[in-house]
Amino acid sequence: MRAMKIRLAILGSGSGTNCQSIFQAIDDGRLNAEVVTVFSDNPDAYILERAKKRGVSTGILDCRGYKNKFPEEVQEALARRLQELDIDLICLAGFMRLVKSPLLETFPRRILNIHPALLPSFPGVEAWKQALEAGAKQTGCTVHYVDAGMDTGEIIMQAFVPVLPGDTPERLHARIQVQEHILYPAAIQSALARM
Ligand code: GAR
Repeated sequence: MRAMKIRLAILGSGSGTNCQSIFQAIDDGRLNAEVVTVFSDNPDAYILERAKKRGVSTGILDCRGYKNKFPEEVQEALARRLQELDIDLICLAGFMRLVKSPLLETFPRRILNIHPALLPSFPGVEAWKQALEAGAKQTGCTVHYVDAGMDTGEIIMQAFVPVLPGDTPERLHARIQVQEHILYPAAIQSALARM
């Protein structure tokens, strides 16, 4: 493992509570890393405010009005920028677009994602709702390496969350998020130890 602090980039589309949990873990000494930059495909995402409050540089990914697509030229520009910033590891934290070539080739085994279910069950969007609708007795969250598939990469760590009688999607997701905020920093630290 590198003696220097690992340089992280975080990509998110929403509130950024997982990003905040990474900041917290760094401050607590549980994660030997620094967040160098935060990028979002959503200019209004609160994750950008969290980064600014911390003095972390931010960037917007202009996906040209595409709802789900992550255009190749946008990924190419991002890959170049992250190389310039000497980024070691990219953490997807609620980033709602599929990362593919060329970002994956530029950062092989250097991109992590957190997913709100026990993969391989319930990949894709609103995984907590999928678990509830399927009548699962338990679900959870997973941190995995990103590959070219949808939530298919090698699993690093998982945490279990029981589905309780009378759960609503919101309540279940809130309990999963409590676990995410513990799991993600721990999984990043574990991935760093293998670099
Ligand atoms: C988290 O629950 C994360 O697992 C999920 O989005 C939420 C983002 O919350 N990600 C996905 O569903 C990716 N497929 P946050 O913005 O508060 O970290």
